[in-house]
Amino acid sequence: MPTDAVVRHRPVALKRALRDPALDVMNFLNSIVLEYPDAVSFAPGRPRETLLHVDAHVKALADLMEDSARASPATVAALTRDLAQYGPTNGIINDVLAAHLERDERISVSPDSIMVTVGAQEALAVLVCGLFDAGDVLLVSDPSYIGITGLATLLGIRTVPVRASNEGLKAGDVEHAIAALPPGMRARAVYDIPDFNNPLGTSLSIDDRLALLEVCHRHGVLLFEDNAYGMFAYDHARRPTLKALDRYGTVVYIGTFSKTLFPGLRVGYLVADQAVSPTGERLAAALSRVKSLLTVNTSPITQAIVATALRRFDYSLEPIVAPQRAVYRSQRDAMLKALARVLSDPAEVVSWNRPAGGFFLAVTLSCEFNAAALRACAAEYGVIVVPMTFFCLADGRRNQVRLSFSYVSPELIAAGVARFARFLSDRRLGAFR
Ligand SMILES: Cc1ncc(COP(=O)(O)O)c(C=O)c1O
Repeated sequence: MPTDAVVRHRPVALKRALRDPALDVMNFLNSIVLEYPDAVSFAPGRPRETLLHVDAHVKALADLMEDSARASPATVAALTRDLAQYGPTNGIINDVLAAHLERDERISVSPDSIMVTVGAQEALAVLVCGLFDAGDVLLVSDPSYIGITGLATLLGIRTVPVRASNEGLKAGDVEHAIAALPPGMRARAVYDIPDFNNPLGTSLSIDDRLALLEVCHRHGVLLFEDNAYGMFAYDHARRPTLKALDRYGTVVYIGTFSKTLFPGLRVGYLVADQAVSPTGERLAAALSRVKSLLTVNTSPITQAIVATALRRFDYSLEPIVAPQRAVYRSQRDAMLKALARVLSDPAEVVSWNRPAGGFFLAVTLSCEFNAAALRACAAEYGVIVVPMTFFCLADGRRNQVRLSFSYVSPELIAAGVARFARFLSDRRLGAFR
């Protein structure tokens, strides 16, 4: 006799796209940390919790509200309307974001070119929902952030992987992929993370940026620039973003406060200043129809927290990010040092890169590392390492892993890399299968 009401009901079939295992990766990366709480986690692109000053940000908003209560009843009423009501779909802090983009990124756009979103993830969702018709193709730098490739799979949008080089996405490879599209397919957009790439840790040179802009412009293809990690530059001055270099109106820029303030805010944005045919309306404004049907508007309360943080230092995040950058740089260095110390045996490891910023690096092993290896490594050796294949559309990179150095202390990084080295050496010696 079934005891559970669910068992008695006819099972529900999911849409076919949702059965694709690639769609489990995002949840997997978030839950694996909880599954193996004692393991050192090199899995998620999470910020270090000691750097997240939620209390200070929330208090700054409370102070603002108290100040307004002292000012006048009309100020309180206006603030209540702004924070408590449904708000404008595209956001209430667009002017603040425009000032921040000018100050920190040298990107000059008007507030109506900006849409405030529920994290960068919603910005990606708005773009793929709003811009692709049947036959339209999204070219994706491969491997890539699973947030975009998973969305495209879910929505049945055709993606074409463009293999990233050791220096990032090359314009020639994009052009080749566009030329190779079958008849009836039209390249609509290219997605890339040119600064401190997730998952590879690479950064595009300025020449490569300019070449990419030229190719996309020449083929009438939009360029989605995801800049989640740009402020975390450790080795050299920041390079200009694609958007700052764009003379053609090719780039749609995606930003987030998840890594610089904290991910629980769920505030990101897109910048789309292109004109839409035939009305001439701004793309960000036209896409507000999509957002209105996804999330209606981004929480005004979390938008206000972001605006308060940005106004504090004259629209710059630099004073907030600088101390974080020092911590992440030391964690990156701890990982590079640990890799050099314990993984220099060519029988196990071929190479790894030195990312100039961001949260990730890539290690190439002498043999394959798959999902079963991940589980064994986590359960028996106490370290979580992610196969690069989790982020790939095309075959290959079976010998590569992504290591995230953002989430744990330098001491744990050293311990985790040593555990990973033990796993590799035991496996090679047959002590583990
Ligand atoms: C490249 C990239 N884009 C977007 C995101 C998602 O950001 P958000 O938390 O703003 O949705 C992430 C998160 O890890 C990321 O790595």
